[in-house]
Amino acid sequence: MLDWDEDLKSTDTHAAKPLAATPSAALSATATHAATSASMPSPQLSGEATTARRVKAADKRIINGQTDVNQLVPFKYKWAWEKYLATCANHWMPQEVNMSRDIALWKDPNGLTEDERRIIKRNLGFFVTADSLAANNIVLGTYRHITAPECRQFLLRQAFEEAIHTHAYQYIVESLGLDESEIFNAYNEVQSIRDKDEFLIPFIEAIMKPEFVTGTTEADQTLLKSLIVFACLMEGLFFYVGFTQILAMGRQNKMTGAAEQYQYILRDESMHCNFGIDLINQIKLENPQLWTAEFKAEIKALFLKAVELEYRYAEDTMPRGVLGLNASMFKGYLRFIANRRAVQIGLDPLFPNEENPFPWMSEMIDLKKERNFFETRVIEYQSGGALSWD
Ligand SMILES: [Fe+2]
Ligand SMILES: [Fe+2]
Repeated sequence: MLDWDEDLKSTDTHAAKPLAATPSAALSATATHAATSASMPSPQLSGEATTARRVKAADKRIINGQTDVNQLVPFKYKWAWEKYLATCANHWMPQEVNMSRDIALWKDPNGLTEDERRIIKRNLGFFVTADSLAANNIVLGTYRHITAPECRQFLLRQAFEEAIHTHAYQYIVESLGLDESEIFNAYNEVQSIRDKDEFLIPFIEAIMKPEFVTGTTEADQTLLKSLIVFACLMEGLFFYVGFTQILAMGRQNKMTGAAEQYQYILRDESMHCNFGIDLINQIKLENPQLWTAEFKAEIKALFLKAVELEYRYAEDTMPRGVLGLNASMFKGYLRFIANRRAVQIGLDPLFPNEENPFPWMSEMIDLKKERNFFETRVIEYQSGGALSWD
């Protein structure tokens, strides 16, 4: 007869067993490096020996860590946890934004100029697939190489936000009744969009390959390069022509629903970019051997290439001046942003003395101050009791 007491006791004693028998890549942070960290102490060890293996915050590392990735606490990287809380406090959903004024304007033959319609279609053409690339990069690439659970927690939230962004763009396409196949295929069919994606995709593929593991200088530099490309050049640069264009439209009382969605997305992306930069700087701090002169030169070349590609996209979306904007203003803006990103990761500015031609964009990022800028919704979604930014 089954002795339930005994069974409970044995469950207690052997609670460690299922995990101990699972040193799989799924549980470990990387297939080679955290295999031991995912295993649990053997039940034969004395209590003292068992507690000796408890996670110490000081032992945690962003990459190639040996501590158990299943234990969120003790925290070491409090900035990551705080950013996770802040992103959760900014939760929003696309359907909460009223799109009726946008729909009426789009359907009115005199509502928008051809140049304005081109901007909207090119914008959505880039963004409807861009955030899927960003999500896949996190889920299938970055996540498994990061061994700090508080950073993984942020990445999980970030991945969901990328899904919300893709949803938002799809919602705009659907609301306006645009040709879905035209918009969703733009990344294959519109050269200026294709060029940006072709620049990015190798950096996703490099870290997604099942055989890719960190632990050598070369592999760690590959991962670091991918993180820099995504945080500084994808989320931190490639999004900015499109964001500025749609937000400029909103400021002129056009496409205010879309502009409001973009405003929320911009705030999320700005948080992703800042988290990515913190992650990059912490990896540099823990692995100074990766930051060689040769590596820095390679990163600088990538920055220059990205500025060029984004500028070509600006020209393609705006062959003539529109909305008080023109492509050459974006040349200055992109250089200004690239300088800022470079400095944020410890590189020299690439284009000295560039000024920001769109200072109002900084206000757009700070949504709390400027909330309901476009007055399309009345609720405040920053949850009370969450972090205060005042
Ligand atoms: Fe996104
Ligand atoms: Fe993002």
